[in-house]
Amino acid sequence: MADEVSARRITAPAIFAMKGKTKIKMVTAYDAPTARIADRARADIILVGDSVANVVLGHDDTLAVTVDVMVHHTAAVTRTKPTALVVGDMPWLSYHTSTHDTVTNAGRLVREGGASAVKLEGGRKRIPMIEAVVDAEIPVMGHLGLTPQSVNSMGGYRVQGKEAQAAYEMISDAHALADAGVFSIVLEGVPDVVAEIVTREIPVPTIGIGAGTHCDGQVLVFHDVTGLGAGEYLPKFVRQYANIADDAVTALREFFDDVESGVFPSEAETYHMPAASEEILRNLSNPTDHLMADEAMEG
Ligand code: KIV
Repeated sequence: MADEVSARRITAPAIFAMKGKTKIKMVTAYDAPTARIADRARADIILVGDSVANVVLGHDDTLAVTVDVMVHHTAAVTRTKPTALVVGDMPWLSYHTSTHDTVTNAGRLVREGGASAVKLEGGRKRIPMIEAVVDAEIPVMGHLGLTPQSVNSMGGYRVQGKEAQAAYEMISDAHALADAGVFSIVLEGVPDVVAEIVTREIPVPTIGIGAGTHCDGQVLVFHDVTGLGAGEYLPKFVRQYANIADDAVTALREFFDDVESGVFPSEAETYHMPAASEEILRNLSNPTDHLMADEAMEG
């Protein structure tokens, strides 16, 4: 973990400096509880991924989320004041139309969402946008390979760079991103040899997801690692370390059984009135008194 942990905040330059020294640990979080858990587990980076769209909000893909949605979730994460670096994901179309819009949208993730860096997908064609955001003093994380916002143009979620020419293009993209000043690059869904070459050739850290073991760090989706995804399809590259969804179902069933049997709530889980007040209240609430009072009012 970065040295800056003791200083209570991990920064983008600190992540950059981890290359070749310590493996970078990144996980997604989309709200305050998951952010607190990620930070307690000592994540170096919390990514407020646009995967919030399908993981949490029930959409089929990530294309549905807007800058407003990403600001909303990023702010929930940063309100917990984690030690980890918080990276806000730039959603589809927030960095595709102009450098001006890109800087404005990245600025919203920082100013309104509290992120300390942003992530955006794509290679050389995104260089002007990346340079503009870096010029605005916002650290940028790149994202190459299987970029989910390109699901329609890729024709589905497919491993990228399986052919030598495509892999070579991706390696060139990684060099271009590094030259443009990104502080790290996510490599998603690529053959391990491609990740190995990129990691060896570029000076910025690579963070893999479905990219093999050679990257400078690894990232997974919180709900996949913990089993909170409740039966969602898990890609081959996911390792699930717990089954929180099953634990939650068990807990809720026990709660419902206790409600049914009357065991919940117990004496210890119940509020009481001082005895004198209770007696006055009980007398006031005598049904016969109520009837007489009503009749007197009507008469
Ligand atoms: O949105 C996301 O969760 C991501 C990670 C999978 C890298 O981009």
